[in-house]
Amino acid sequence: MRSSLRAGVAALVAAVGLATGTAHAADTPLRDLGAAKGKVVGTAVTGSRLTGTYGDITGTQFSAVTPGNAMKWGSVEPARGSFDWTEADQIVAFAQAHHQQVRGHTLVWHSQNPSWLTNGSWTSAQLSDLLHDHIDTEVGRYKGEIAAWDVVNEPFNEDGTYRSTLWYDGLGSGYIASALTWAHAADPDAKLYINDYNVEGVNAKSTALYNLVKSLKQQGVPIDGVGLQAHLILGQVPATLQQNIQRFAGLGVDVAITELDVRMQLPADSTKLARQAADFRSVVAACAAVTRCVNVTVWGFTDDDSWVPSAFPGYGAATPYDENYQPKPAYHAIAEALGGGTTTPPPTGACTAAYSVSSQWNTGFTGQVTISCSGASLSSWKANWTFGAGQQVTQAWNAACTQSGAAVTCTNASYNGSVPDGGSVTFGFNGSWSGSNPVPTVTLG
Ligand code: XIL
Repeated sequence: MRSSLRAGVAALVAAVGLATGTAHAADTPLRDLGAAKGKVVGTAVTGSRLTGTYGDITGTQFSAVTPGNAMKWGSVEPARGSFDWTEADQIVAFAQAHHQQVRGHTLVWHSQNPSWLTNGSWTSAQLSDLLHDHIDTEVGRYKGEIAAWDVVNEPFNEDGTYRSTLWYDGLGSGYIASALTWAHAADPDAKLYINDYNVEGVNAKSTALYNLVKSLKQQGVPIDGVGLQAHLILGQVPATLQQNIQRFAGLGVDVAITELDVRMQLPADSTKLARQAADFRSVVAACAAVTRCVNVTVWGFTDDDSWVPSAFPGYGAATPYDENYQPKPAYHAIAEALGGGTTTPPPTGACTAAYSVSSQWNTGFTGQVTISCSGASLSSWKANWTFGAGQQVTQAWNAACTQSGAAVTCTNASYNGSVPDGGSVTFGFNGSWSGSNPVPTVTLG
């Protein structure tokens, strides 16, 4: 019903456009662009704000909502045995009225638990009963209404060891399998996820998560997906994001980008906002490229409703809309990565260069740059970029590369200087890295 109404409105807009001779049709909402690519597009929300413009944008642009805080244990059971479902119920009702999915967030975490729980002293048996009851109660209350649960949140340390928490310390790592099993029993139709941050690229932490999911699958524990939170810093989208999504997909689980934001040092300026747009674009494009990446959710769609300024003092402007609900370049970049029309016409003829990392290991990586021309051609080329995190090219093929400080210049070999209109040339290199390996922007000159 809703989609036929939508189609009718779109047709009407197109017809008006034709009648008046304007070429510019209304922008397609993100949820419709996502649907055309088989992706759910979500946002975290605050229940009390779901009216007015905030409510309109949430309902129009997104096909899923995640309660930012309302379903956390500390919110739903502030005093033992005394429950408050007001905000969670409100968000679920809003989602149903707007034909949206709900991502339940989150059942088992070390943070935002009620003080009666964290201050208590519990035997293992008591802890296990408490957790079982909590999962039964919350998942049971919303049975059939939650598309996916972030069952376990943030179980790992950066080095891939288990984080010391109430749950791990009291129950051992088996608490994860127990929680998934209990959640499945309470709502067999909900997709069950483990969710964490700094697991977007291939690194020690994401490898620990990978190994855990693999072993849970082998043991027949109900696990349907992994959530990559993606709380990112400007210019630091991991180069191995798509490779990492792909390796999880290879385990037979879904992947969701669950909490995407890209924070920058304040004040924002047009250069930073353009870089942010490129970062959002590459995250959404990485998800769009892998069939099993099913959902991209932003952690708040407006800078007016973002956790960043309070969690990371001095940082902000991390979402796709500004604090006045105006779409930022990042909004348009998300739309473009989902196949939406560009708001600025594409250049009529250009050659562009795209950098990617095809594999990465503890200290090294293999990268490649593809130069493509459309409506233009080249008889020789020079590709330039500046590494952002101390990476070093150690060897190149199909190009001659030199590096001075962070600046790299690669020129064509004798046999591949010519790039015809509609054609492309690729060269590759090995490099070293440590810490992080962000993707630089390549210019041709
Ligand atoms: C954040 C909320 O957005 C804030 O309002 C709250 O004060 C703290 O928690 N990872 C998660 C989310 O899984 O639940 C967190 O949400 C952000 C980090």
